[in-house]
Amino acid sequence: MIHIKNLSKVYTKGRNEVVALKDINLEIKKGDIYGIIGLSGAGKSSLIRCINRLEEPTSGDVLVNKINLIHLKNKELRKARKKIGMIFQNFNLLHSKTVFENIAFPLKLVNTPEKIIKEKVNHLLELVELSDKAYVYPSQLSGGQKQRVGIARALANEPDVLLCDEATSALDPKTTKQILNLLKNINDRLNLTIVIITHEMEVIKEVCNRVAILEGGNIAEEGSTVDIFSKPQNPITKHFINQDENLPKSFIKGKVLHLSFTQGSATQPLISQITRDFDIDVNILSGKIEYIQNQAIGKLTIQMDVDCHRLLDIIKYFEKNYVKVEVIKQ
Ligand SMILES: Nc1ncnc2c1ncn2[C@@H]1O[C@H](COP(=O)(O)OP(=O)(O)O)[C@@H](O)[C@H]1O
Ligand SMILES: [Mg+2]
Repeated sequence: MIHIKNLSKVYTKGRNEVVALKDINLEIKKGDIYGIIGLSGAGKSSLIRCINRLEEPTSGDVLVNKINLIHLKNKELRKARKKIGMIFQNFNLLHSKTVFENIAFPLKLVNTPEKIIKEKVNHLLELVELSDKAYVYPSQLSGGQKQRVGIARALANEPDVLLCDEATSALDPKTTKQILNLLKNINDRLNLTIVIITHEMEVIKEVCNRVAILEGGNIAEEGSTVDIFSKPQNPITKHFINQDENLPKSFIKGKVLHLSFTQGSATQPLISQITRDFDIDVNILSGKIEYIQNQAIGKLTIQMDVDCHRLLDIIKYFEKNYVKVEVIKQ
């Protein structure tokens, strides 16, 4: 659906150059809710804004629905952009217009007949559950309601793709959840491809089926959300997952392993089996269950006193039983 090839972005101000994106390659499939996470300044906004050429890429290609946007001139670009909706952190609503007029705005821009505008806007108001707010002004709405208007407006021209730049970052956790549920719902019902930019792992966990971690203009890691959560590779990914949060490092002796249990592995008594089969003591340091897109992933950190040879056998044993293992202290 979206194919980003060798994308780079350099901002030039006078003699200063800021390299915001370095040779990015990404493929986002139709129907994905694709998350891009990174710290402030990582290049997230630059990346998402290059997808609809709100920002001109310095080099590389962006294909949406097989059309290379980089080659398009004004009129064709406007047409292609119609099929790419976008929502923002600060909503970007028109304050002097009512909710109805805000949602109608992109339809007016392309000369949609009044009757159809009315039908479409009313339908969109229903979709975002704001029918009772059609004739109020944005200043009378809560943050969550404003973002619903933003979503309805972004959907007005029936886009194939919805780009969300920190769309929930100005909202409280409960409202964030509601907006994410709405996006998930729209993704299911309309099979709309959604790209979500965020600095919060909670957002990714809640709705994204795939995720890329952006650091300093590079993609540090990319994969299915479940894989990334159960076996993060890169330090920046671990930072976002908060994997080592409760570990009192200085007190720990022996070997320390992070274990991730998914679907099949969670129902077996593997820990008691290895203590028996390998005749060792296992000390459980921490454990929790995370829910990622309604899938339970058990996380266990264990410590044991074994030599390297046996450690390898134990790791093999776990992996044979679909437990992902990471040795964090040898
Ligand atoms: N218009 C601009 N002019 C110059 N530098 C910019 C501009 N926009 C972003 N940058 C720089 O590019 C880098 C990436 O920024 P941005 O894409 O906004 O990151 P993020 O959204 O992850 O916080 C930062 O170093 C930022 O200062
Ligand atoms: Mg940003």
